[in-house]
Amino acid sequence: MNILLIGAGGREHALALAIAKSPLLTRLFVAPGNPGTEAIACNTPLDAADHAAIVAFCRVEKIDLVVVGPEAPLVAGLVDDLAEAGVAAFGPTKEAARLEGSKGFTKDLCREYGIPTAAYERFSDAGDAKRYVRAKGAPIVVKADGLAAGKGVIVAATIAEAEAAIDAIFGGAFGAAGAEVVIEDFLEGEEASFFALCDGKRALAFASAQDHKRVGEGDTGANTGGMGAYSPAPIMTDDISARVMRDIVEPALRGMNARKTPFRGVLFAGLMITSDGPQLIEFNARFGDPETQAMLPRLDEDLLPLLLASANGNLPAGPVKLKNIAALTVVCAANGYPDAPTRGTEIRGLERAAALPGVTITHAGTKRDGARLLADGGRVLNVTAVAGDIAAARQRAYAAVDLLDWPGGFHRRDIGWRAVKENPHA
Ligand code: AMP
Ligand code: GLY
Repeated sequence: MNILLIGAGGREHALALAIAKSPLLTRLFVAPGNPGTEAIACNTPLDAADHAAIVAFCRVEKIDLVVVGPEAPLVAGLVDDLAEAGVAAFGPTKEAARLEGSKGFTKDLCREYGIPTAAYERFSDAGDAKRYVRAKGAPIVVKADGLAAGKGVIVAATIAEAEAAIDAIFGGAFGAAGAEVVIEDFLEGEEASFFALCDGKRALAFASAQDHKRVGEGDTGANTGGMGAYSPAPIMTDDISARVMRDIVEPALRGMNARKTPFRGVLFAGLMITSDGPQLIEFNARFGDPETQAMLPRLDEDLLPLLLASANGNLPAGPVKLKNIAALTVVCAANGYPDAPTRGTEIRGLERAAALPGVTITHAGTKRDGARLLADGGRVLNVTAVAGDIAAARQRAYAAVDLLDWPGGFHRRDIGWRAVKENPHA
């Protein structure tokens, strides 16, 4: 089979590594890819926003399946345009991607289908939103409705902070994503992520993971795309995972079917595990980054038939087979990330680090300059290690990180601290 994978991050390098192992694979193209995918696939300079060019490429190269990594092309309707051209794709249509693209849409679906989530209201007027906040009290959570690169959520400790957030969102701080706000109750608990493959009707439990969204140690500082992750998330016991499938994932699939916009692809549930059980914080319509780098090394079956079955509407009865091991990923980011990452600094020692047992390094924002490898983005490298448990995986991952020679970058030393309580700093 010929596969075209869309994206350029660490998630896509991890997906490419898994797809490249499939005996079903003939050729793997990645558009645009990165220096990591270049070593195992054919990088192709296609623009994800140019759907006509992607369709034409699929015809010329006889692509059997397009796998879409990031959310932007999903929300822009790439899967719809491919379907219209008769090309199979892994990922939801534009309408189904509203589960990620509109927080208000998702909250309304939750309300209708009894999916446990924080109590909320939607507003398109700042005055009404502020009155609601004052009536509810703080802490309270203010969210821009649309996609805001992970920055549209303000957890307000005071009413004044919530009001400032409302003004910022309606004032255009997040562009069109802020035409509407969702205000919801603050949930207390531990966060975890749960992933399920979906084929429109059926959902197959994939794996759990926990990421670290904040830039600083102890989960402090600015929100980022994710500074590290581990899988499984110990808090996601079999019982909690089964509840998430029954109370959150399956009703959402039923709701999307009833709306005649069946969800295919991977449903990523961001959860708060509260004293009342799992509550949905948000859905994403794609694999997580860096969660995927920590989940895929645990997969104990061929990924490609699963992606195909999701696209074709014939997933087998689950769950997917996972190895009884743990994996942990440390993200190495360029100095200045997330605000203003410095580009162009040289990274050395990668081969040495990647040669350690159980270690895989995936690229994100890197570029080649002759024989040199340079930083070319915010999140630059992902160092993943597998082992029998999270503590051992973490030790291996940091041993590899310590072999990297990159003064232009930084990483958190405490990835996995909740799971490895006795020694939070590696
Ligand atoms: P989101 O982009 O919706 O995942 O939100 C970003 C982060 O804000 C989440 O990972 C949580 O840490 C926090 N958050 C969002 N909604 C809530 C909530 N209702 N209660 C507490 N924290 C929240
Ligand atoms: N790591 C969080 C995300 O992929 O949205």
